[in-house]
Amino acid sequence: YQNDKLSGQHWVITAGPTREAIDPVRYISNHSSGKMGFSLAQAAQQAGANVTLIAGPVHLNTPQSVKRIDVESAEQMHKQALTYANEATVFISCAAVADYRVAQIADHKIKKTDDNQEMQIKLVKNPDIVADVAQLTNKPYTVGFAAETQNIEQYALDKLKRKNLDLIAANNVATSGQGFNSDNNALTVYSTNNKFDIDLADKSLVAQQLVALIAEQLD
Ligand code: C5P
Repeated sequence: YQNDKLSGQHWVITAGPTREAIDPVRYISNHSSGKMGFSLAQAAQQAGANVTLIAGPVHLNTPQSVKRIDVESAEQMHKQALTYANEATVFISCAAVADYRVAQIADHKIKKTDDNQEMQIKLVKNPDIVADVAQLTNKPYTVGFAAETQNIEQYALDKLKRKNLDLIAANNVATSGQGFNSDNNALTVYSTNNKFDIDLADKSLVAQQLVALIAEQLD
């Protein structure tokens, strides 16, 4: 897929999980593989855009000619996203950002003791990266993802509105063989007034279709 309209445009894409440290050797994270975001970066680059990919810790090769910024925590991703999104045409938030981080990261490895059968870790809320991007004065065309196990349409539309997004791509993570950590995905994409289906296929094909849809909606 190639589109002349995208030449000279800057697309910023977040991908993968974030990793929230507990102490120097432990962290809280999730099962995001980064495949969907990396496929989108490749598809957008091949379509003709200049692409910056802000990636959490994943085991994937950087797509050709894509500028990759590696981050670990949500706070680091937030900082990079706001920097690059400020002069972008399109921002796609594909990362599975940890909703909470550890309030006090321990300087040293937390030791277990014989008398402690329980322990508690206090968590505090992370910034909402895509919502903050959508509040920028120079707001790019902003696309979010929604991974839901139930009430997909209702939750997706709620997020679209609440986070001030232009488009939201919903995947049902409860269905096996698609979404998290799979090679395949199927999406239902919502704008305020429209609904588009992208059928179950390899993530690279789904990515090309989503890039084409975004390009069309940019008009
Ligand atoms: O609210 P929820 O996490 O379900 O929203 C998902 C969307 O919001 C995704 O596009 C995700 O990348 C983005 N998000 C974010 N920062 C967060 C949480 C979610 O950018 N702290």
